[in-house]
Amino acid sequence: MSIDPGTMAEMWRLSDKIKNYNEERAGRTGQPLTAFVKTFGCQMNEHDSEKLKGMLARMGYDVVPDYQLSDSALIPDVVVFNTCCVRENAEDKIFGQLGAIKGAKKHKPDMIVIVCGCMTEQEWVVERIKKSYRHVDLVLGTGNTYRLPEYMAKRIFENKRVIGAESEDSVPEGVPMMRDDKFKAYVTVMYGCDNFCSYCIVPYVRGRERSRKADDVIDEVKGLVQSGAKEVMLLGQNVNSYGKGAGGDGTDFAALIRRVACETGIERVRFMTSHPKDLSPELIRAIAEEPAICSQLHLPVQSGSTSELKRMNRKYTREKYLGLVSEVRKLIPDVTLSTDIMIGFPGETEEEFEDTLSLLEEVRFDAAFTFIYSKRQGTPAAMSPDQIPEDVVNERFKRLVDTQNRISREKNEALEGKTLSVLVEGPSRTDPARLTGRTEGNKVVNFDVDAAALGERCLNRPEAGDIVPVKITRAETWSLEGVYCG
Ligand code: SAH
Ligand code: SF4
Ligand code: F3S
Repeated sequence: MSIDPGTMAEMWRLSDKIKNYNEERAGRTGQPLTAFVKTFGCQMNEHDSEKLKGMLARMGYDVVPDYQLSDSALIPDVVVFNTCCVRENAEDKIFGQLGAIKGAKKHKPDMIVIVCGCMTEQEWVVERIKKSYRHVDLVLGTGNTYRLPEYMAKRIFENKRVIGAESEDSVPEGVPMMRDDKFKAYVTVMYGCDNFCSYCIVPYVRGRERSRKADDVIDEVKGLVQSGAKEVMLLGQNVNSYGKGAGGDGTDFAALIRRVACETGIERVRFMTSHPKDLSPELIRAIAEEPAICSQLHLPVQSGSTSELKRMNRKYTREKYLGLVSEVRKLIPDVTLSTDIMIGFPGETEEEFEDTLSLLEEVRFDAAFTFIYSKRQGTPAAMSPDQIPEDVVNERFKRLVDTQNRISREKNEALEGKTLSVLVEGPSRTDPARLTGRTEGNKVVNFDVDAAALGERCLNRPEAGDIVPVKITRAETWSLEGVYCG
């Protein structure tokens, strides 16, 4: 729940104490202290990293964008691994990188190694770190990340190793943040998940659903607008439950997003994720009616088969999902629709898989994030004896990806010749003479600015943070090409 002001004040006090200590050390050595945060997971995990970086900066660390283990002068003083455990390969990768950092600590024994994020909410992980990763100094959970200054103080001033994330279902306000992007920002509206889809570990590692107060969300967005933000993405594992569980103040998600769109001056607002079982007509109407709410919806379907959806505990049918999509398209004809699909869920028959393929053809999503089922310890699906053989899964995965890639390209081709509004992010990575940005549908557009055509208006060359019209000239599978036509 909300953190009491006394606890937050204590975090500020400890941050200042660490900062003074660090300044004194830096003064002696002539070297600023550095910290590096590595993000492994979803948008929520990325946003948690922004908070971790904010707290570290407040403690006097110079937050660096990367780390070098080979050169001891470049090894950071603090390394944080903000972990993800949604699939097994994410975990394997993290343990690998954690092992690799052990040698660096020999060169720099004062280095503080911290592991936090979803993985640490599993007991076996904590035990393994305790025993086999002795070079890890601190382990925090997902609900108590805001206590980083307290953990750091124990390590720095008492030389204690604190391993073991006490689970806390908190709604922390006022945690400092170091945002990765000035123009586009994540804003958490709710934490946790109560859905317990039968394959998913998130409810076990992120705790119960709890919401921020609507006024706190509005104040945060207003602050972002003042510092130049043009777009916010409201985050929650299941935003439709916003305001319903703990911490709610009676505002539901549709009302909240309307307030964000109307009261804050933000130019674009989008959100994720909305669960199909309770996507409300009010929310669809809000997207259709409020110009600042992007005509875009990420609506994870997971499977196109009603029997498989039942085993997944998704609480909707194929027909209900298709009904929702036509409702959405009726009210928002130009909507950009994306989804998540999982292949190889236990017991998945060829017929069930074909239902998923046919759903892709029927809905024609702009994009689909495709995942191979990964067995997660402690979830009901992990107990199923009907795990699908790897070769079958791989063959299905390939058919799925081929189908969706074709559809994505066709959907993009249908945009050729249209003029779309694009939020400019900066020079294109592959060709700095061009610019890159995102459409309202969140599609990447790389575009030219024809200096000759601009003539004396060249001074008005678009810059990062501008929202400008771009004519789409060519479609790729995952992006668009265009030309600025302001
Ligand atoms: N709350 C969001 C999803 C968060 S996890 C929602 O319900 O839509 C993001 C995606 O990871 C899920 O949509 C699912 O497709 C995938 N995923 C979750 N658990 C998984 C597992 N055990 N194996 C493979 N993919 C998984
Ligand atoms: Fe996982 Fe389902 Fe919750 Fe999404 S809604 S986080 S898939 S349990
Ligand atoms: Fe996100 Fe991974 Fe946790 S997907 S919620 S960081 S398990």
